[in-house]
Amino acid sequence: MWETISDKLKDTEKIVFVTGAGISQESGIPTFRGKDGLWRKYDPMKLATIDAFYEDPKLVWEWYEERRQNILNVSPNPGHIAIAELEKYRQVSVLTQNIDGLHQRAGSKNVYELHGSIITIKCTVCDFKNKITSGFLQLPPLCKCGNILRPDVVWFGEALPQDVWKSAMIQASACDIMIVVGTSLEVSPANLLPVYAKQNGAMIIEVNVEKTHMSSSMDLSLRTSAAKALPGLVDIISQVK
Ligand code: APR
Repeated sequence: MWETISDKLKDTEKIVFVTGAGISQESGIPTFRGKDGLWRKYDPMKLATIDAFYEDPKLVWEWYEERRQNILNVSPNPGHIAIAELEKYRQVSVLTQNIDGLHQRAGSKNVYELHGSIITIKCTVCDFKNKITSGFLQLPPLCKCGNILRPDVVWFGEALPQDVWKSAMIQASACDIMIVVGTSLEVSPANLLPVYAKQNGAMIIEVNVEKTHMSSSMDLSLRTSAAKALPGLVDIISQVK
């Protein structure tokens, strides 16, 4: 699978991954747009927007708390673990759209959470922000200041954290290989990252069980799952010096 790029891997210093919900699918977390995806069952505009939150914070919190508990009870899969292991052989950065923290739990050090984190909770008014892994007795949970807490995630209609986005663009523009794993590339601005990488001469590889609208512009498009494909990349890169 990766043999065709073994020469390229030999003189590669920096690999950047852009990951989406597909890399966590084999950990048991549903994707958004796949056949069993979350957006097949729920209307994102009723759950993942700032207006939805202020209209019905309890409903939005019930959905996020259910996802939080699921995420806290699953583990990184061989796809996450392979990416973390690659740090032994090359400079690796992970630009993830996922909010599940599984890359960090697998051991990846340079993770940029473009859409925030479901584990981090912040106040809607004061500057309280903290990682909270326990469940909440009441929903919506309240801050000590008396205002409603929210998950530290980026909702539709909200801007990405600017410092994270700026760093992600720099990473994408300065890599030898970009590997796009488990994302439909439907959501901007994350779907611009492969464009920046290509503009700067990187080789772009896609790992996805289905074709995406950018598959034809990839240098290599592997139609397989993350957990099946990525350990093989570690095997080959550990042999090429
Ligand atoms: N291995 C690799 N790819 C997979 C796997 C797998 N095991 N399972 C599914 N996929 C692919 C699907 O074919 C699909 O192309 O992963 C992709 C998942 O796409 P989406 O569900 O659209 O998820 P994502 O691209 O991460 O969505 C981006 O949209 O709803 C917002 O904020 C949310 O971060 C999310 C953003």
